[in-house]
This record gives sequence, C-alpha cells and structure tokens, in this order.
Amino acid sequence: MEKEIFEQPDSIRRAIRGRLKEGKIKIPSIEKIYPDRILIIGCGTSYHAGLLGKYYFEDISGIPTEVETASEFNYRSVPKEENVLAIFISQSGETADTITSLLKCRDLGYDLFTITNSVCSTLAREAGKGIYQYAGKEVSVASTKTFTSQATILLMMACYFGKAEADYISKIPELIKEVLEGNEIDDLVDSLPSRAMYASGPSLQTLEEVIFLGRQSMYPVALEASLKLKEVSYINSQAYPSGEIKHGPLALITEDTPVILFAAQNNLEKKNSSTSSEVSLRGGEVVIVRKSNQQITGKKFAEVVMPDCNDYVAPILSVIFFQLFALRVAIRKHQFENINIDKPRNLAKSVTVE
Ligand code: M6R
Repeated sequence: MEKEIFEQPDSIRRAIRGRLKEGKIKIPSIEKIYPDRILIIGCGTSYHAGLLGKYYFEDISGIPTEVETASEFNYRSVPKEENVLAIFISQSGETADTITSLLKCRDLGYDLFTITNSVCSTLAREAGKGIYQYAGKEVSVASTKTFTSQATILLMMACYFGKAEADYISKIPELIKEVLEGNEIDDLVDSLPSRAMYASGPSLQTLEEVIFLGRQSMYPVALEASLKLKEVSYINSQAYPSGEIKHGPLALITEDTPVILFAAQNNLEKKNSSTSSEVSLRGGEVVIVRKSNQQITGKKFAEVVMPDCNDYVAPILSVIFFQLFALRVAIRKHQFENINIDKPRNLAKSVTVE
C-alpha cells in the first residue's frame, strides 16, 4: 500500500500523458459523444471516484449526472431514457456487480463507456469504448493510486465536455509529490487525542472512532478516507456531508473522537468555518484539511495544510493525505500483531461474485 501511495505522481502522469495538449483535453474515445445525461456506476472506491466525477461533470460541463453503486442499480426499475452515457468505473474491470450493471444499461440502450486499469478486462471488452488508467498494477487490496487516476480521468472528461481550459491538470503530479514529501500526516498521527496511541503496545488506550466531514466535492473524499481507515486499521469511522451533522451525528462528538473536516475549497470558507465551530463547541477535536492560502476560523486541534491549488485538484490531494493517515495508523495499531496491511481480513482485491 505504501509503495502504491508513493507511486501516485507517476500514475497520474500516465493518466494524463497524451490526453492534454496546449491546455485542451484530447481523448479520441469521447469525441463525438454528446450526452444529455451521464450515469456513473461503480463499487467501493470506484463508486467514490464516481461521486467526485458527478461534481466535476455538473460543475465544469453542466451535464446532469447520477451516480449509483452497481449493487443497488442492478435490482431496481430504471425508466428508459434517450442519450444517456453510462460510465462504469472499475480498477479490475472484473467486478461482478458492475458487469451486471453494464448488461442492464446495454438493454436500456445507453452508450457504454468504461474507465478501468485493466486492459482487455471484461468491462473494457463489453463496453467497447473507454479510457485506460495506466496506473500500473495495484496489489494492495485497499485501492489508492487507482482512485486518484480515476478522479483525474473524470476531471479530464468533464473539461472535454465543458470545453474548459485544463492546463492546471498538468500540475497535479508535482503537487502530489509535494504532499507526499511533507510531514503533516506523521505529525497528525503523533498528536491525536489518544496521545499514547499504540506507541508501545496494543494494550494502551486506543483510538476507537474517527469522523470525516466534507461538503460538495469533499464529501466523496470523506467517504473514501473513512473507507481506507476502516479497511486497513479496523477502526470504526463514519463520513457525513458536513451540513448533516447537526441532524443527528453531533451526538457522537466527544473529546476522544477526532473529526477530520475536509475544507480545501475557496468558495466555502465561511460554511466550513461554521462547521468547525459547531464541532469544537461540543468538545470535538477538529482537524482542518485546507490549502495554504485559506483561513478556516474557529478552535481547532490540528491542521493539515496542502499547497495552494485549483479547487478541482484539492479533493485529489486531500485523499492522498488520508490514504497515508490510514496506513500510518494501521502500522502503529498492528505493530505487535501478525497482520498484513495489504490483505485486510475478509476482503479480496477483485470481487467477482454478486
Ligand atoms: O475493481 P473495482 O474498482 O471494480 O473494485 C470495486 C471495489 O471492490 C473496490 O474499489 C474496493 O472498494 C477497494 N479495493 C477498497 O479499497
């Protein structure tokens, strides 16, 4: 997992290579597609990438977009519609639920399109049209580099459909490098509320739960960060859209529950500041994830600061910090146990049964 996290500058470079020329996106497989609506389908991490894709498609190209987990889509009635582009996201290209969704979308007469890391996989073959991620083999069960390359590809597709300037995308690999070279996450793990956390033995006080919050494009980031932590550290975590916490989850806040607030969004500084206050006023230890040029007011326990970047790139950088967080916490937690972080209990890399 660690190796794959640190490969991200290169995997993103490969996702972009040949597809971005003079600030414009050139992707032959999406030329001549002009959808009225987009439907994105995936599972787990790939579904989270799809949620971020919805934000990109609607914000950059103005195309109405829905996202659904394959396992839900497969068993409900879906009204027929004209000119729908169905995008299937799958690292392996072999996920049974997603393949079933593709067959259902074919019956509905939708245009089929796959984003996958596996050349010649079932989804790539069945869709006939798509984009390869070229992220390199991902061995760890917990997906990391494939999420960020899926997100980058969705961003490029949104720029293509929206005829938007895309030069900032070429800077992503360097920005990721900067994030990976920093100490933010090691410092954060050292300073968490359960201060002696896993320092010298599993019998010490342990971190029991982490809450992740995010608005808009940062909500999928919160979901993905939460999934990573659960998978590799077996620590319970929840993710909520920031505005929802006052509708119930605030009851969970205690001084032993770190609340990670993804807030690297220029246009939402005020809203993110008020969420931070809502949590800290109840005694919660808020960790703000923000850009270097931003101010999020209110009492906070710690900050994770990323380089200044375009708002569409910030979710990608934010996720990388918390891939590292999940890994570092898991290493400490499992240090006296014989646990392979790359193969979490009960999970498989590719889920080929429904
Ligand atoms: O191969 P796929 O992207 O279709 O796999 C879907 C999920 O099983 C997968 O993303 C899973 O959630 C991740 N490996 C979790 O890190």
